[in-house]
Amino acid sequence: MEKIETAVRNAVIRGTGHYIPPTVLTNADLERMVDTSNNWIVERTGIRERRILNGDREWGTSDMAVAAARQALADAQMDPSRLEAILVATVTPDFPLPSTASIVQLKLGASRSAVMDVVAACAGFIYALSVARAFIVSGVYRNVLVIGVERLSSITNYQDRNTCVLFGDGAGAAILSRGEPGEEDKGILSTFLSGDGQYKDLLHIPLGGSSVPLTAKNVDQPGRFIYMDGREVFKLAVREMADAAERVLAGAGVSADDVDMLIPHQANQRIIEALGKRMNFGPDRVFVNIDRLGNTSSASVPIALDEARRSGRIGPGSLVLSVAFGGGLTWGAVLYRL
Ligand code: ACO
Repeated sequence: MEKIETAVRNAVIRGTGHYIPPTVLTNADLERMVDTSNNWIVERTGIRERRILNGDREWGTSDMAVAAARQALADAQMDPSRLEAILVATVTPDFPLPSTASIVQLKLGASRSAVMDVVAACAGFIYALSVARAFIVSGVYRNVLVIGVERLSSITNYQDRNTCVLFGDGAGAAILSRGEPGEEDKGILSTFLSGDGQYKDLLHIPLGGSSVPLTAKNVDQPGRFIYMDGREVFKLAVREMADAAERVLAGAGVSADDVDMLIPHQANQRIIEALGKRMNFGPDRVFVNIDRLGNTSSASVPIALDEARRSGRIGPGSLVLSVAFGGGLTWGAVLYRL
């Protein structure tokens, strides 16, 4: 069901943070693993390298999430004990049970907060931010930690050139808090979420869930990794992200010209350019880091948001539009003023 919401009370972004693992996987590395070339990858995707959580470091998804969350808490000057809810958007949880949010809570020392994971693939952070905002504007919680984190390298088939050149690992986090008096102009102005299950097989992992559990017979099959029909996803991505963006602009009564920075999901340089062109955003108003990080799914928007803030490309008062698209299919947009 589609629904547009506009702010009644406001939820402001108090702090942001991110973590990217130190190990770099370059296009040259991939040339040695599958039948591909640096030229093909750069021309078709814009990606030059991506970061991978190296196996010799005993870290999982929750550790990257905690590193990003600590930065966001420091930025917001907030003690973890003040968090009332922790939402973790991920399709690569530490374990099927419990939620990664529970593990993040423990490692952060944020006991007694509500904890839950949000599963919406690359649109996960947009979904989680919208849920957090709904909690805050309805008066349920005052301070919510929202994390987008993925260890996509754990579900990527490094023998499939269609997908392995795209994905990377990382985490981004934001602290969302109820606005104080005088902050009425700040915060999330409007959100839009949507999805369409008829496209579920365009981007999926066929094996390993309760429907087709892993067995000794199928454990070596490629179906336990991500499968993507990239061409079909590409077409739908541009159309639906542009539609979602228009809806949140209309929901807040502003035009694309008013937006200081578009921070889109980093799936493909050509998708980002097509979106920018359709909405009349020049490169100076579009944040891109896909060349360095690849597609980090739900982590991509919060990493980009934090990098944009820390590099000074956006700051207090900036009007920012974030839009994402991913498996499900799911998509959505959020318009916010810092
Ligand atoms: N190196 C060399 N050749 C390749 C590679 C590669 N790494 N990958 C594919 N090819 C080949 C294909 O086999 C095909 O060859 P063929 O014509 O002989 O069959 C040819 O290149 C063209 O393939 P296309 O799939 O048409 O290439 P396209 O230009 O569409 O680019 C890509 C593929 C990059 C995957 C693109 O379609 C894309 O970015 N799609 C959208 C991805 C996306 O937005 N995903 C959503 C989020 S992801 C998530 O939720 C986890």
